[in-house]
Amino acid sequence: MPEKVLTNRDLESMIDTSDEWITTRTGIRQRHIVSVGENNSDLAVGASRAALEMAGVEASEIDLIIVGTLTPDMPMPSVACLVQRELGAGKAGAFDVSATCSGFLYSLSIADKFVRDNPSMKILVIGSEVLSRRTNWEDRTTCVLFADGAGAAVVTASDGDSGILSTCLHADGSVWDLLTIKGLGTAHPIDQELLSKGWQYIEMKGKDVFKHAVRALESVAHESMEKAGWNNDDLDLLIAHQANIRILDFLRERLNLPKEKVFINIDKYGNTSAASIPIALDEAWRSGRLKKGDNVLMISFGGGFTWAGVTMRW
Ligand code: COA
Repeated sequence: MPEKVLTNRDLESMIDTSDEWITTRTGIRQRHIVSVGENNSDLAVGASRAALEMAGVEASEIDLIIVGTLTPDMPMPSVACLVQRELGAGKAGAFDVSATCSGFLYSLSIADKFVRDNPSMKILVIGSEVLSRRTNWEDRTTCVLFADGAGAAVVTASDGDSGILSTCLHADGSVWDLLTIKGLGTAHPIDQELLSKGWQYIEMKGKDVFKHAVRALESVAHESMEKAGWNNDDLDLLIAHQANIRILDFLRERLNLPKEKVFINIDKYGNTSAASIPIALDEAWRSGRLKKGDNVLMISFGGGFTWAGVTMRW
């Protein structure tokens, strides 16, 4: 995480909002945001170094680097190439995946296929975002939600019965305009008109997104578990994209899970898009919430829309 912390109290002095509104409607109490000069690739490199150390793998052994992100340092080169250079991962191929908040699970699914095809491969999978630079800090309906951060995993062939059991990827482009950053691509010239419309920032129809998110997440949770041959009782931990505490509470009820089986850290980090699942996975493992042999379900939902589910035995 970037070091700088922005609390709800800080936001109270910037826009017309309150700690009480943000906490009850979203579950967020604080978020981390980058400082001047700190970029997406810096966060991605930090997370990658931690993952490589935890895995006991050298950067020079990595065959492929995949970064899920919607906020790259620049359109070209990819964040993955910048990470490759910084780590000195000389033999690795590198590319970014554009699947918004599902970027990490889409990337993990791709890595899974590569490793199944060639079990000697070692793949670095990263979710990394700097959403604070695509946030309109005058729009109270979005700026209280989004934040920055990165997480990473080293994916290799497993021995024994641990590993990824099922992957499910989905999208629905017909409702693309409910959650967008319209400018800064090639469809619109970057001119005064674009900037005055605020198209360089995240725009969201929050209530509509909420309704789509809960439906899609519940459905992909069932689909992923069914593919893995699990019923609800088999699940030890649900790691869902941290977008809103009310979405997480809804899922807990619909999936009939006790509180201790649903991982929550949105209070500390806000919505970090593609980074939220690997950050949560790392915290769950380091804190002992996730134990060897546990059945983990990861599910995500984001702009596009995209949604995804991955089950694994840890
Ligand atoms: N502080 C204080 N008031 C705020 C506010 C803020 N930060 N943001 C909005 N409000 C106000 C609204 O202006 C509105 O006021 P009004 O009734 O006078 O018009 C009121 O609060 C209710 O707004 P509403 O949009 O109905 O709130 P909500 O309960 O739908 O919550 C979200 C808003 C954004 C928290 C919620 O819709 C949401 O989480 N949606 C999903 C977002 C998401 O997860 N996106 C990412 C997917 S990856």
